[in-house]
Amino acid sequence: MISGIGLDLVELDRIQTIYERNARFAERILSVRERQKFQMLSDGRKLEYLAGRFAAKEAFAKALGTGIGENCTFQQIEVLNDSLGKPILYFQNTLVNGFVSITHTKHVAAAQVILQEGEA
Ligand SMILES: CC(C)(COP(=O)(O)OP(=O)(O)OC[C@H]1O[C@@H](n2cnc3c(N)ncnc32)[C@H](O)[C@@H]1OP(=O)(O)O)[C@@H](O)C(=O)NCCC(=O)NCCS
Repeated sequence: MISGIGLDLVELDRIQTIYERNARFAERILSVRERQKFQMLSDGRKLEYLAGRFAAKEAFAKALGTGIGENCTFQQIEVLNDSLGKPILYFQNTLVNGFVSITHTKHVAAAQVILQEGEA
């Protein structure tokens, strides 16, 4: 049964401005494992990756119904990729029963999250 949905859209130039002002923004948004991948990317891909993770985490917080806050921080949400590149969601180091999809263009990144309860 579907227990939550969340959608988020982020402008890349907004993320770029914040990141240029403060490189620690990536540390605030990305988990340690996400940062390991981020460090290996080209500058263009870095921006897409950071904006896509930001959107995915906001979409997850909406699907959960809490928004980003003390019970759902950017660090508690992690989006890793499987061997084919498909994004997989973790919350508080536990695999999430649900789905995330991320997209980006030259200007925006967007993400959608669907959460499930019980058996699919
Ligand atoms: C919910 C959250 C993710 C909203 O994000 P946002 O980018 O400010 O706003 P968006 O335009 O993407 O979404 C707004 C919509 O989210 C929805 N929303 C708000 N709180 C929500 C919640 N607790 N659960 C689910 N959806 C929620 C509402 O429908 C709202 O639109 P409405 O007020 O017209 O009904 C919020 O937790 C948040 O503000 N996060 C930002 C955290 C942060 O640190 N940002 C700074 C980084 S620079």
